[in-house]
Order: sequence, then C-alpha cells, then structure tokens
Amino acid sequence: MRVLGFETSCDETGLAIYDSEQGLLGQALYSQTELHAEFGGVVPELASRDHIRKILPLLKQLLAETDTPLASLDGIAYTCGPGLVGALLVGTAVGRSLAWGLGIPAVGVHHMEAHLLAPMLEEEAPDYPFVALLVSGGHTLLVDVKAFGQYEILGESLDDAAGEAFDKTAKMLGLPYPGGPALAALAEQGEAGRFTLPRPMTDRPGLNFSFSGLKTAAITAWQACDQSEQARRDIARAFQEAVVDTLCIKSERSLLQTGRKRLVIAGGVSANLHLRAQLATRCQAIDAQVYYPRPAFCTDNGAMVAYTGYLRLKAGQTEPPIIRATPRWPLSDLSA
Ligand code: KG4
Ligand code: ZN
Repeated sequence: MRVLGFETSCDETGLAIYDSEQGLLGQALYSQTELHAEFGGVVPELASRDHIRKILPLLKQLLAETDTPLASLDGIAYTCGPGLVGALLVGTAVGRSLAWGLGIPAVGVHHMEAHLLAPMLEEEAPDYPFVALLVSGGHTLLVDVKAFGQYEILGESLDDAAGEAFDKTAKMLGLPYPGGPALAALAEQGEAGRFTLPRPMTDRPGLNFSFSGLKTAAITAWQACDQSEQARRDIARAFQEAVVDTLCIKSERSLLQTGRKRLVIAGGVSANLHLRAQLATRCQAIDAQVYYPRPAFCTDNGAMVAYTGYLRLKAGQTEPPIIRATPRWPLSDLSA
C-alpha cells in the first residue's frame, strides 16, 4: 500500500510518500520560521496562507523527485488535528479533495499519534508495548502505548508544554524565534551551578508536569542578575537542565510504575541533545531501552503522517468525503 501524507498543523508544510513494501519513498518539507521570526512566534493567519502557497508546488516536487505517478497511490493521509484550525484546513482540504478526485480512501491523522509513531520509521524501531514521552510546542505527554492505537495517558502538562516553556524563556532572554533550539545552543556555553531553578512537581507522586512556574523562575533570575552575556548563557543552561531533569525524573517514574522496559521520546523537544543524553544514562541504569526518531523526524514532518495514515488505512479506517479539522483533540479520544 502506498500512502501520501500531508502535515500542515502549525508552521511546517510537510509531505511524504510511504510505501509498505519499500518504506519511505521521499519527503518534502518547507519551514515557515523566517516568515514568523519578525513577530517572535507563529501568526496563525500567515501560517495558513503560506501553507496554501507551498502545498501544491511541494506536492509536484515530491511526485517528480520520487518518480511517483498519482495513479500509483492507494490512499491519502493528512493531519486533521490538533493544531491551528486554518493551517489544518489547508492539508485537510487538499488531501481529502485529492483522494476524492483519485477515487482512493483518505484518513485524518492525529498529530500527536504521528509524533508517537515516528520512531517506527527508524531501523531500530521499538516493539510494543512502550512508554512514550511526547514533548512538542503544544503538548507534554507521558503515554502508555499498549499497542498501535491503544494509548493510556499517564501524565500531561497542567500549563505550558515543554517546548512552549523553552520558546517563552528564550524570547525573554532576547533569543530569536524559534527559541527552543536557540536556547539549547546557548546553554552549551553556560556554566553549571551559577543559577539553580526548580524541578516542578517532582517532589510529590504523580506523572503530571507544570512548566509555567519554572519559566517564571528563569525570568525572575534574569531580571535580578547583571544581564551580562555570560549570565544569559548560565540561565539558559540552568533552565535546560531543570526541564531535562524534570522530564527524566517523570519518564523514569513512568517506566517503574508501568513495568515497561522501552521508552520512546518524540516531538520537537526530543531533538534536544542534552535530553537524549540524560535519558540514555538514566534508562541504562534501570535496564530500559530508549528510542527516538532522527532529529528531522522529531519536529513536524510529512513522513510521520504518511506512516500513521498507512497504519490507520490498513486497519480499515477511512474518512467520509467531508473536509473536517479538529483543532482540539485529546489523544485519549482516538479510536483504537
Ligand atoms: O513537534 P514540533 O515541531 O511542533 C509541535 O507539534 O509543536 O515541536 C516544536 C517545539 C518548539 O517549541 C521548539 O522550540 C522545540 O520543539 N524544539 C526544541 C529543540 N528543537 C525544537 N526545544 C529544545 N531543544 C531543541 N533542540
Ligand atoms: Zn508537532
């Protein structure tokens, strides 16, 4: 089965073709970061308009590069939620209409399920069951993945998502959008121990997160210090260490609680090298294995959508000929 996938939930236009026999045939990605940089964050209306501009040229490019005739497609998948409604509607409208025109089935994909399954595209893919730590700009979730489609939420962020906290703290430190990777790069040059920031909600049982207070603590520390270049680096380091430590403590706790021996990390923040290194060390100590997608598949991309769509279509799920986006859609509401 050959599936074309569209991702347009936020500020990346991502397309890919997944073939069940040959694997990933190719992908095309356009990132809108430059467009939003001058505003310091994603402007939803600009995002939608840019998806409209880019989606068909990217499709033509992908079909040409992979030498794929439209007639060879067996299905079409598109992210239909959660995300920015205008942005979601672009991929949904194009994907659903194209499937209708070609007379092939279509399926709407949950963006976080696609992130969760992205490590399956790697050579060293995890077997089920596993615990997934999903850390993106909009979500922080710990999920017990019993099998494909069987997800139990173990914990989630009660306020800011981990990526959101990275972005807001970066902005406050005067770093350009997108802040997460910029803050991570700055943290590399920081000195450890000059600032100490809290590890929120780790001193009590449970697997939920809260990053808003940590972000405020970083802002307070910045306002109270000499605001030198070195202080900026040191706060970036202290902030990254606090987020990573918190994510590691809860991930380890979730493994011990569920008895699972495999941990998957996915979503934009899983590209963070410090997080990957710390999780590897901690999991080794408790005899658990860590899996993650290649960095390009940690952030938004079409490949994870094409693959998830393939699995859902194979399981017999299809979308009626309706253009429908679901901007708010808890992962726990997904049908098994
Ligand atoms: O998954 P993603 O591309 O989009 C959403 O679904 O939200 O995640 C984007 C988030 C942003 O908040 C970005 O700052 C963060 O992931 N991010 C990082 C890194 N790379 C991306 N955060 C920390 N360190 C990184 N290296
Ligand atoms: Zn995402």
